[in-house]
Amino acid sequence: MPNSHLARIGTPLSPSATKVMLLGAGELGKEVIIALQRLGVEVIAVDRYADAPGMQVAHRAHVITMTDAAALRAVIEAERPHLVVPEIEAIATAVLADIEREGIAEVIPTARAAQLTMNREGIRRLAAEELGLPTSRYAFANSLPELQAAIYNGIGYPCVIKPVMSSSGKGQSVLAGRQDVETAWNYALQSGRVKEARVIVEAFVDFDYEITQLTVRAIGASGQIETSFCEPIGHVQVAGDYVESWQPQEMSPVALQRSRDIAAQVTAALGGRGIFGVELFVKGDQVWFSEVSPRPHDTGLVTLASQRLSEFELHARAILGLPVDTALRRPAASAVIYGGMEATGIAYEGVAEALQIPESDLRLFGKPESFRKRRMGVAVANADTTDEARARAKLAAARVKPVKR
Ligand SMILES: Nc1ncnc2c1ncn2[C@@H]1O[C@H](COP(=O)(O)OP(=O)(O)O)[C@@H](O)[C@H]1O
Ligand SMILES: [Mg+2]
Repeated sequence: MPNSHLARIGTPLSPSATKVMLLGAGELGKEVIIALQRLGVEVIAVDRYADAPGMQVAHRAHVITMTDAAALRAVIEAERPHLVVPEIEAIATAVLADIEREGIAEVIPTARAAQLTMNREGIRRLAAEELGLPTSRYAFANSLPELQAAIYNGIGYPCVIKPVMSSSGKGQSVLAGRQDVETAWNYALQSGRVKEARVIVEAFVDFDYEITQLTVRAIGASGQIETSFCEPIGHVQVAGDYVESWQPQEMSPVALQRSRDIAAQVTAALGGRGIFGVELFVKGDQVWFSEVSPRPHDTGLVTLASQRLSEFELHARAILGLPVDTALRRPAASAVIYGGMEATGIAYEGVAEALQIPESDLRLFGKPESFRKRRMGVAVANADTTDEARARAKLAAARVKPVKR
């Protein structure tokens, strides 16, 4: 029976086991795995390097190049999981489409969602051209002359250039004028995930603030998929990478309603079950769709403190066909802890001092190798207000000092 895993949960490491494979086992995958483990699921973690955070809490782990179609297919065939859960974008998504079509495993939320969101062009064309959602003006370019023409013919300045296949702000630049175009083009080419010379150029949106609207598609009491929303998450990005987030972000009722309408539409178009991080720009009552992750979102780490069920627990429940509860418990914030150095096997001092801050908590991800700008941990804190929670989380993060062993 193809969907028998939705009706019951078996015993791990036995023939009745409900088996879930995570493709990508970083800090977000680690929390999803912990949530699945608590529900008695057998979990297989896959990533490109040994001892990735999620591998340390999974039943088994495999190290493969996830963009290698043959290697990905082989690990799925060897493990035969019920569910395959992508945690990152850089995956041979054609394999996911094949295993979904052949009924080998269910892909979360769908293989098509993984395919559309791994490339900025797929999701932008779906959102703007098929669904008619408001987005920044945009164009695509395959060469420097094409890029210059696109900016000249309507995108204008300031604008943002990003490789179509990239994440975490890699290869991204903001252009003030003509003098910046060539540098930005070369930078995008160097930093894209694949060596394809294709970029998106977007008009710069002068937003008041940006949010992540976590949106869950889960089976409700009716037995049908229902859409629920978490409270909006505000965040600060530096060079395209998240450094701080908080929940709830205060919004006008109109902007909140528009955000949820956009989130409902884009997640319905992607389909399947699970949590989605819908990124939106807000100015007054105006809302623009930016992008969406069909999986937990890094800014959603704040939900470890703010919600009764974190985004990771919500994802685990939704993919298993279980009910969800998106209620906020108490305002909270998160602040990122960076490695600050290039070294393996580093240590963390100041943990006790950090945890002396009221209502604070920490996650140290256990990454084997530190880079200067690598996210190695996160501090979260609750308070009566998000402002106070932000101050607490930042202070706790600052007290954690990565040091050489
Ligand atoms: N068109 C834009 N206008 C203004 N800011 C933008 C625009 N595009 C991106 N940004 C800023 O850069 C951040 C990262 O861009 P995003 O498209 O989300 O890339 P990534 O996939 O790397 O997260 C956004 O969260 C936002 O702060
Ligand atoms: Mg983003």
